[in-house]
Amino acid sequence: LVLILDFGGQYNQLIARRVRENNVYCEVVPYDISVEEIKSKNPKGIIFTGGPASVYEEDSPKCDPEILKMGIPILGICYGMQLMSHLLGGKVGRAEKREYGKTSVKLDESKLFKGIPGENICWMSHTCFVDAPPSGFKVIANTGTCPAAAMVDEDRKLYGVQFHPEVEHTEHGKEMLRNFLFDICGLKGTWTTGSFIEEAVAHIKKTVGDKKVICALSGGVDSSVAAVLVHKAIGNQLTCIFVDHGLMRKDEGDQVESVFRKQFDMDLIRINAQDRFLDKLAGVTDPEKKRKIIGEEFIRVFEEEAKKLGKIDFLVQGTIYPDVIESGTKTAAVIKSHHNVGGLPEDMEFKLIEPLRQLFKDEVRLVGIGLGIPEDLVWRQPFPGPGLGIRVLGEITGEKLHIVRESDAILREEIKNANLHRSIWQYFTMLPNIRSVGVMGDERTYSHTVAIRAVTSNDAMTADWARIPYEVLEKISSRIVNEVEHVNRVVYDITSKPPATIEWE
Ligand code: XMP
Repeated sequence: LVLILDFGGQYNQLIARRVRENNVYCEVVPYDISVEEIKSKNPKGIIFTGGPASVYEEDSPKCDPEILKMGIPILGICYGMQLMSHLLGGKVGRAEKREYGKTSVKLDESKLFKGIPGENICWMSHTCFVDAPPSGFKVIANTGTCPAAAMVDEDRKLYGVQFHPEVEHTEHGKEMLRNFLFDICGLKGTWTTGSFIEEAVAHIKKTVGDKKVICALSGGVDSSVAAVLVHKAIGNQLTCIFVDHGLMRKDEGDQVESVFRKQFDMDLIRINAQDRFLDKLAGVTDPEKKRKIIGEEFIRVFEEEAKKLGKIDFLVQGTIYPDVIESGTKTAAVIKSHHNVGGLPEDMEFKLIEPLRQLFKDEVRLVGIGLGIPEDLVWRQPFPGPGLGIRVLGEITGEKLHIVRESDAILREEIKNANLHRSIWQYFTMLPNIRSVGVMGDERTYSHTVAIRAVTSNDAMTADWARIPYEVLEKISSRIVNEVEHVNRVVYDITSKPPATIEWE
């Protein structure tokens, strides 16, 4: 185990990713973690992340200085290096101007730089720097502007780098991290999805005992993988409730049912609640109101079904690591279940089982594959909770849902045929709720317009419209107007996010 002390740097998740890529398990923890807690976790190495603060600011994040005396190897990155220096009596200076970007750096001999050429390129992003390292340290790297670009005290196993080894632009950054993990911390790199599954199964068995567990299955990747993992551990002590709100994509509900019931032989209750949702949504045009109604109705249906099952002790949730890190790396053992499910009544208290809370999305996918879940499901693109409900602009009707569902199925099929399905982050059709004039045969038509939305992105925070080849667009367009009734026009949304969002509502 490696602990990553979070000082608020923008690359913190990336550091964790890099460590995991070496099959070393790591956890990002708040910077104010106590020495006792660290001892109880027994890490073989610690990394201090970067951060936007300066060590001289009074309220800048500072860890307990005792951590530096525990004898555990520590790598301080950027602010982490400055803090290490500051806490041990070194001097930190402030440059006139922020140093940012690729910088050439000279490296001296050191365990950290083993096997790396003496001159190379690193990525800098800082204003402060270490002026004079604390006694016992030696400077092991410099750049034109930064005299102590890296420092080490081999006896105390304390290392600091001013640049960012976790960033792709640092030419040999990955090797530096490997040197730290394997040579300096003595880790072995044995953490794999296989070992994860084994440990998780044992842990779930122990936690649950002979108690009963439920899971709200949505067909999304995370909840699906979580459910299969828990099922592997405790079999049919787990009941899955699958609320089909009628707002899923074409055949999706049936696929979910067949995978979980037939392939995994899970105890699955499918509630076909399409009509109930449509009734509640009748006449509603405001997107936020629609979201709220769909979310609440989901909970009501889930609650009604859960109550029929008698006493239930645990609720499975597909929380994953980025959710955990974003909510501040703090956790609570028993949380009211409305935490993630979005509003279960106060009197329904479950303990949560969140078997994926330490995994990144791509690790969740690997675990899914390892558990035998079909690729189609494991590589499913992100799909909003309110589903097609926010892809029909304005009022939702059965007919409009049908148009979106059918046109979306054509789009997905053609994107897959063109082998673009892994490179485009999200692609779907929506119904802007406008009608326009067209001509079909000799007849005038006055029908719906379907819009295609397809974006590339890394995290959905920003996105760019995907450059789908014209020929592919042409095929999609002609198939949609020919095969989907009441559609006579197809348009392509060429706006990035920002200023637009990915969904139209
Ligand atoms: P926007 O439209 O805000 O979407 O650019 C960013 C990402 O979030 C998804 N999205 C939602 N997911 N409930 C969800 O679970 C929602 O209400 C919701 N609205 C948007 C969207 O599909 C995209 O991946």
